[in-house]
Amino acid sequence: MDSSDAALPDVPSPALVWRNGPANLGLNGNAVHVWRIPLSVSSDRMDALKILLSSDETCRIERARSQQVKRRFLISRGILRELLARYLGTEPAEIKFKYNAHGKPSLDDEHASWPLKFNLSHSGDLALVAVAVGRDIGVDVEYCRAGSVGDRMRVARRYFSTSEYTFLDRLPVEDRVDSFYRLWTCKEAFIKATGLGLTVPLSSFDIDLEDSIRPVLVADEGGGNTNQWILQHLVPGEGYAGAVAVNGRDLSVSCWQWSTYALAERRPLL
Ligand SMILES: CC(C)(COP(=O)(O)OP(=O)(O)OC[C@H]1O[C@@H](n2cnc3c(N)ncnc32)[C@H](O)[C@@H]1OP(=O)(O)O)[C@@H](O)C(=O)NCCC(=O)NCCS
Repeated sequence: MDSSDAALPDVPSPALVWRNGPANLGLNGNAVHVWRIPLSVSSDRMDALKILLSSDETCRIERARSQQVKRRFLISRGILRELLARYLGTEPAEIKFKYNAHGKPSLDDEHASWPLKFNLSHSGDLALVAVAVGRDIGVDVEYCRAGSVGDRMRVARRYFSTSEYTFLDRLPVEDRVDSFYRLWTCKEAFIKATGLGLTVPLSSFDIDLEDSIRPVLVADEGGGNTNQWILQHLVPGEGYAGAVAVNGRDLSVSCWQWSTYALAERRPLL
């Protein structure tokens, strides 16, 4: 932990509790909200979400290669709309997105009166949505699939930086898979926050996992100012790893559960 992190308020433990979201979302400039969204929903709920989507989103579902991809996109995009609508005080179907050259969605300029930024990730039966005001933000969740330590080390050797691989290699064997996923999700969250995605080689920057809650981005071949980023591990559920990356310092990350979160009438959603 570096000395500036020591002063941060309310740094949660890695065993994060995902509480039901408050009625008043109250997102201020130093707050980061991360929402955990279960993707197992009823077919009635799917129908209700489908009508929130735009025509280009519906076309994307039609083009998707598998039922699993269609279903995951429909549910996560529909709930993303519901969630952002709560912050913006508008209707979910009214939200318009734009995309950067690498496919990162953001709110269209017509919502520019409030510089809300967000990012979404999905894996297995979960999605995470991270939201902040006026800060680049990226989030990643990974379902930790079965596989050997050797498989993970081969991936790390191929894609991670030399110092990250060396860090994993020096760990006791039983700790390597967990640390592999922690590194992986931090790295994905960071490249997603920049908006550049996998056009940034994963080996071109280093993440130091020594701080078990807030790892540090220590070196970036691109010459970026690594001090400007906060990374935080998330524990989205049994068998999942996650991380959020946000541009800025002195931020406070809150984790909220969406499944039982109420819409305007505070009804259960599922
Ligand atoms: C972004 C990327 C790292 C996502 O990896 P992943 O682990 O498979 O997927 P995740 O579930 O974590 O995230 C997917 C979500 O991230 C968001 N996203 C898409 N592109 C993104 C980008 N460049 N940066 C940040 N977020 C992005 C979307 O909301 C997407 O969800 P959707 O597919 O439901 O719209 C990867 O797809 C990538 O590098 N894409 C860029 C490729 C590119 O440059 N394409 C150019 C033509 S569009």
